[in-house]
Amino acid sequence: MEFATIAQLPKAASRVLVRLDLNVPLAGQEVADDFRIEAAVPTVRSLLARGLDLTLISHLGRPGGKPEPALSLRPVAAALSRQLGRPVEFLAGVPGDARYRDWRGSAGGSLALAENLRFDPGEEANQMDFAQRLAAGRQAFVQDAFGSLHRAHASTVAIARLLPSSAGPLLQAEVEALDRLLHDGSRPFGLAIGGAKMKDKLPLLRRLLPQVDLVLLGGALANTFLAASGKGVGQSLYEPGQLEVARELLAKWPGVIHLPTSVVVARGAAVEEVGVDAVPEDARIMDIGERTVEAWRPLVLELKRLFWNGPMGLYEQPPFDRGTRGLARLVGAMQGLSVVGGGDSLAAIRRLGLAQAVTHLSTGGGAALAYLQGDVLPGLRALEQG
Ligand code: 3PG
Repeated sequence: MEFATIAQLPKAASRVLVRLDLNVPLAGQEVADDFRIEAAVPTVRSLLARGLDLTLISHLGRPGGKPEPALSLRPVAAALSRQLGRPVEFLAGVPGDARYRDWRGSAGGSLALAENLRFDPGEEANQMDFAQRLAAGRQAFVQDAFGSLHRAHASTVAIARLLPSSAGPLLQAEVEALDRLLHDGSRPFGLAIGGAKMKDKLPLLRRLLPQVDLVLLGGALANTFLAASGKGVGQSLYEPGQLEVARELLAKWPGVIHLPTSVVVARGAAVEEVGVDAVPEDARIMDIGERTVEAWRPLVLELKRLFWNGPMGLYEQPPFDRGTRGLARLVGAMQGLSVVGGGDSLAAIRRLGLAQAVTHLSTGGGAALAYLQGDVLPGLRALEQG
């Protein structure tokens, strides 16, 4: 796909609308994880350095088309301001209202963040009318919200019909990293997939299984495959309705799909690691076991390409974060190309200080999955030239 880049912004444009994905987890009034803010900073800096007045827009959470104080972007404006080391004016209200329309900045190089786009129902409805309000008083549009491009919303699709539009540097870097992962041809090529729901990961598995040498499965997703291969999973979370699909994939790709060989189970307060043939009837699988991580070590270390998405266990509840952390260490030690997307996998990599050891950390969990499984992202298509 060919996009205009920020080098091609119209010379006459001084007031520029910039769509970022600042959909970050909050803990009350504080940003709980600032990865997406950090990732947006170079783009904002490089546009400000051109003397442009920037209106930044983003969504946060799913307020359902009406103002929801707990999902205000105000704390994000404060966090962004700290990262940039300069003030960020916060435009409270609803994006597109009179204050938004009339904001002009001062003498070039001004910066404002508008309130949550999803406070207006026009955003998720991809309404032209809402896009027109977003465009009012702005002369060009930069799309840099890679994580939102799988949504056909006013700030990803309709807006690109109204203003001269270009792809921002983060968006470009994301697409380049995913294209390299898909097409660079080096082998072995592997996937590590965790999380709970088959429906979120099945399209990716179906698309990439014919191309990869190895798939490591963890999380509740792996429980469904364990059950499908005849193992007892006790009281564990799994998807009985997906057993047939899991059986089909296991039969079709026998040497490729690797399930955990040991798991961490909980029975009341008791926690232990057991082999997958020995899960007690009254226990729940909470994580992959250390023996599994050890068994996977040589497989991961020899990979030339890896994509990892999804936690291997109940990451948010220690000690069931150990499997995910163990895999993060293996990915950090890989010599090959490694791309990681999705909240918990990213958090594990970052908390272990391994961000620099991974080739690319994607800011888009769902968008990266959609791109890799071959979907046309509506927000990318809207930017396409010619
Ligand atoms: C994400 O976090 O994946 C993006 O910001 C999109 O958010 P959404 O799933 O609420 O559309």
